[in-house]
Amino acid sequence: MKPSLEDFLLSAIRTIPDYPKPGILFRDITTLLGNARAFRRAVDELVHPYAGLKIDKVAGVEARGFILGGAMAHQLSSGFVPIRKKGKLPHDIVRVAYSLEYGVDEMEMHRDAIRAGERVILVDDLIATGGTAEGAVKLLQQMGANIIAACFVIDLPDLGGRSKLEALGVEVNTLIS
Ligand code: PRP
Ligand code: ADE
Repeated sequence: MKPSLEDFLLSAIRTIPDYPKPGILFRDITTLLGNARAFRRAVDELVHPYAGLKIDKVAGVEARGFILGGAMAHQLSSGFVPIRKKGKLPHDIVRVAYSLEYGVDEMEMHRDAIRAGERVILVDDLIATGGTAEGAVKLLQQMGANIIAACFVIDLPDLGGRSKLEALGVEVNTLIS
């Protein structure tokens, strides 16, 4: 029998126990990215809900959101906006502090990367506590983005990230739970 989409993608992801800290089961998508069929299928499925919609920008969260977001932007004929860890962007920035499953950090976006009213899709490889995605949503909203949806390859539902974004009124699409 043909495996479901979820089983196919899941089989392409590697799990590393106790990385980067004891007790964390790290979902490593580098194996999915290195698998031509799985990478293509994941990107096709991520863009599927937005096919035919006008999307001005795909915003990707460093680092793994850059890889997926670049491919999505190409497929949707939209621009790409990098949301980066602090200190990496050269021009005027907006900044937000956030916490994630295994730490705290700050992220930044160029102030002129989004114009008010632009239709934006946010993408990252994974949503766990949702702290990272919530920070990215705050940056985009600060610049007046119209966030059409946030999408992720992997949702770790026990950590509550999806509900956190939905409570902010953001549509969430994921491929694997
Ligand atoms: C991972 C992942 C998400 C975030 C999700 O990134 O790519 O960005 O954690 O966690 P959360 O939902 O609990 O906030 P990480 O911070 O490890 O950065 P990296 O992609 O640069 O390795
Ligand atoms: N980001 C937050 N939690 C994660 C996990 N368990 N695996 C990979 N990335 C993560």
